Amino acid sequence: MILTRAGAEFVTPLSLGSLSGDKVYQELFSLTDEAEMGHIELSRSADLVVVCPATADLMARAASGLANDLASTALLATDKPVLMVPAMNVRMWEHAATKRNVAQLRADGVTVMEPDVGPMACGEFGAGRLPEPDRIAKEVRRLLAGPQGHGPLAGFRAVVTAGPTREPLDPVRFISNHSSGRQGYAIADALARLGADVRLVTGPTQLPVPDGVTALRVETAVEMQDAVKASLPADIFIGVAAVADWRPATRAQGKLKLKGGADDKVALQLVENPDILKSIGAKRKDRPRLVIGFAAETSDVERHARGKLARKGCDWIVANDVSGDVMGGADNEVLLVTKAGAERWPRMGKAEVAMKLAERIAATFDDSQTNAAE
Ligand code: C5P
Repeated sequence: MILTRAGAEFVTPLSLGSLSGDKVYQELFSLTDEAEMGHIELSRSADLVVVCPATADLMARAASGLANDLASTALLATDKPVLMVPAMNVRMWEHAATKRNVAQLRADGVTVMEPDVGPMACGEFGAGRLPEPDRIAKEVRRLLAGPQGHGPLAGFRAVVTAGPTREPLDPVRFISNHSSGRQGYAIADALARLGADVRLVTGPTQLPVPDGVTALRVETAVEMQDAVKASLPADIFIGVAAVADWRPATRAQGKLKLKGGADDKVALQLVENPDILKSIGAKRKDRPRLVIGFAAETSDVERHARGKLARKGCDWIVANDVSGDVMGGADNEVLLVTKAGAERWPRMGKAEVAMKLAERIAATFDDSQTNAAE
């Protein structure tokens, strides 16, 4: 166990040592510590290095490869997986510099958890709270299970889009929709539980990122398309996002002003957004093996879904029947349309739909591997 200088302002080495039953190391150049165990050996003696809490400062130093205290030196010297559990003020978490450092750490192979959202010690509210201990324990167990994780989708990479997009009119206004992102997040979670390496490209939502899932946050459809492209190649692409069909033709630099007359008509010019699903379905090179789209229909569900399947070049369409009270609710009633046929699933929770879909995907890959081997 390593206690940093800042950490020692909050807890004493004595209380940490007696509660954990472990030796607490503090100084980089301590003769007794080095005699017992050099800092290189210390960083490699564990199966997993957990930085908890991971402050903005420590993450910045680790992202830059600095080694100016025992903790940062151990992080640079280790050859073991590293898990960072961030805890900081919401503004610090959302600062461009922290975002840059988190992206760099993730690109370097470090697992950085998403902090919890809620009230903070400083009185503010937002993302930055230390995740609850059971979430941390779950993530530790997952990482200890191996780099690829376990499960039938281990070794497969999935890209999932979720949530709405926001199309700005000016610096303070945008066009969007009511998508909550729940179904997309549940699918990302289910795929990760089955062992897949999951990238979730998400528009603005209030949802926590599922454990073991890497989230790329975007606002507009164009940004979503760029983030999806940057996440490919992948084995599976699932477009669950409610992408805005249009965006304002121009984005005003300053806030648009009222003209003053109640009868004044204001014309808004819109242009079509790129169809992300269609562009992935049509790919010649690096097309994911399974491209799945969603469709909300109110009538003639199968016919419309089949049309969409062909138009967008997907392999499967998950059609929601939204003629009842499904929209915005916790449950979903789904028709799975594939090139081979259609299957009606009973009404069930969104998490159950997600797991059934993930299992279906795993079974399909399993079958194709068996067939290839025969
Ligand atoms: O055409 P429609 O919007 O009904 O199609 C829905 C499906 O297409 C969803 O899977 C959605 O994520 C995807 N889509 C997309 N890009 C768009 C519009 C829809 O990826 N611009």
